[in-house]
Amino acid sequence: MEIVLGITGASGVQYGIRTLELLREKGITTRLIISETGRELIRLETDTLPSDLEDLASFVHANNDLTAPPASGSHRHNGMVIAPCSMKTLASLANGVTSNLITRAGDVCLKENRPLILLIRETPLNTIHLENMLRLKHAGAHILPASPAFYHRPTSINELIDFITGRILDLLEIEHNLYRRWE
Ligand SMILES: Cc1cc2nc3c(=O)[nH]c(=O)nc-3n(C[C@H](O)[C@H](O)[C@H](O)COP(=O)(O)O)c2cc1C
Repeated sequence: MEIVLGITGASGVQYGIRTLELLREKGITTRLIISETGRELIRLETDTLPSDLEDLASFVHANNDLTAPPASGSHRHNGMVIAPCSMKTLASLANGVTSNLITRAGDVCLKENRPLILLIRETPLNTIHLENMLRLKHAGAHILPASPAFYHRPTSINELIDFITGRILDLLEIEHNLYRRWE
């Protein structure tokens, strides 16, 4: 199995980092692409360096490398996660603007009917954000707001992160026990 993972410049890079850690634990091949602002957010929000994160990925691609394998539909993989996904990247995807590798790879997923999971984080949302999400949902993307539930009584930030990361893995049909399921 191979998953493409994009990390863009929205708050909540922890979700992307945790996703990468879990995919690695499960022996799944990963292709990691981090945007410029995504790199800034990793430095701002965590004690991890972008280079440490890149060491966890099977392959790393520069966001301006439009020759990388995920830029082509003929390269087969099992889906893409953008976590977190900024409103700017969301807007680019909603309008078919594919000027970097993250948006091109996402656009390829939509045209090839492969899972595209957008872990969005913004609040409050304006009508442009909402319309872009609706367009992308109609085009086949999964819109996953970074809004963890509390019915499993989380007691740490890690549990909140794992709840959302678990929902990402659910959409990719990857087994996990990151949170207690509702019985
Ligand atoms: C500290 C910081 C936090 C940000 N948080 C968010 C956010 O939560 N959601 C969002 O959509 N944009 C956020 N932004 C704005 C994006 O980084 C900006 O729109 C950028 O152009 C996104 O580019 P990218 O999608 O290529 O990474 C933030 C920017 C900074 C510097």
